[in-house]
Amino acid sequence: MNKPIYLDNAATTPIRPEVLQAMMPYLTDEAFGNPSSMHQFGRAAQAGVDTARRQIAEAFGTEPGDVIFTSGGTEADNLAIIGGALASHRRGGPFRVAVGQADHKAVLAAAEAVEQAGGEALYLPVDSNCLLRADAVQEALASKLAVFSMMWVNNEIGVIQDVRAVAEQCAATGAVFHTDAVQAVGKVPCRIDDFPCTLLSISGHKIGAPKGVGALLVRDRTVVDALIHGGGQQFGIRPGTENVAGIVALGQAVRLAVREQETTHQTLGALRDDFERRMRETFPDAKILAADADRAPHISNLSLPGIDSQALLMQCDMAGVALSAGSACNTGAAEPSHVHEAMGLPTDVATGAVRFSFYKQNTPQDVNRVMEILPGIVEKVKKLAEVLAR
Ligand SMILES: Cc1ncc(COP(=O)(O)O)c(C=O)c1O
Repeated sequence: MNKPIYLDNAATTPIRPEVLQAMMPYLTDEAFGNPSSMHQFGRAAQAGVDTARRQIAEAFGTEPGDVIFTSGGTEADNLAIIGGALASHRRGGPFRVAVGQADHKAVLAAAEAVEQAGGEALYLPVDSNCLLRADAVQEALASKLAVFSMMWVNNEIGVIQDVRAVAEQCAATGAVFHTDAVQAVGKVPCRIDDFPCTLLSISGHKIGAPKGVGALLVRDRTVVDALIHGGGQQFGIRPGTENVAGIVALGQAVRLAVREQETTHQTLGALRDDFERRMRETFPDAKILAADADRAPHISNLSLPGIDSQALLMQCDMAGVALSAGSACNTGAAEPSHVHEAMGLPTDVATGAVRFSFYKQNTPQDVNRVMEILPGIVEKVKKLAEVLAR
């Protein structure tokens, strides 16, 4: 029996051993205290939180006080978009946000929540490569915006957006710029010290830290209102006793991911390129989505037109290869991906699209194994579809 192969790393990653080791004392040993306590147990916990703040600030080129820890990427996106819109509205500014149609559901649902609260949301179209359309960006910026949110790397397609250019335009128009960098950390250079990115979301579990921890970098605390109310922790922007072990893990994971970013780009990029080359050879009609666009190295979304991706995923799972059709938040729903819809993919291309996503643990042998089993599985899925169509 072959060891199962995990190629769904854009959904989540295993915890890195170094990260697990760093967080353990904050769960069980002398550093388990509440960071708000004045005694030595509390001080030890607070020191862990402070170290993580410093590690994250150094990685992105911001200040330790800019780091607001959250329960993950979803909460960070909500805090940026809803909290940003509410802060602007409270001060008599615009109550309008702009997001991308191909953004993560955490962003789209936050924009909808702004609408439900009486504000306005613009959902900007993307082109066939999943990049925000320049004309739509200009149009949105011409209206008064509280927050402009742009994802750095798309979680389904992997395309990299030009966040710097849009952040600069936002600064010129007075809109607060937010980027969802959840899939960008450790995959593309992510320093923001030399451009006006005010808010930036990250999530631990995409980079070898546990699920349930993330952060929003807030470079100007006046631009977001708290969504959760409680004690005064984290400057009152995100109160609640800190998830100390998770935070320590996030700091360590971000530090390692950013330190290794160039190597990651090379190794995962080579793995992905080899995989795509072989897929093209084996399946000449395979369509690699956004093939010509600048993409992060860990995601390959490709379609085998005429194949039902759900059936393919099930067969792959039975053969020991874990994949997904898109965002883990959508799977199970068997609905077409909103990202594919936004890109305007023909139905047969969208239905046949599968996401392969790589991480540190993947090897060329994993790609060999996938290439070994896939032709047989594709044949089987095609035959099953023929039988069902009769
Ligand atoms: C681009 C993007 N944003 C936000 C999130 C949500 O992050 P979390 O799972 O930490 O809530 C994800 C995770 O799937 C993501 O890929």
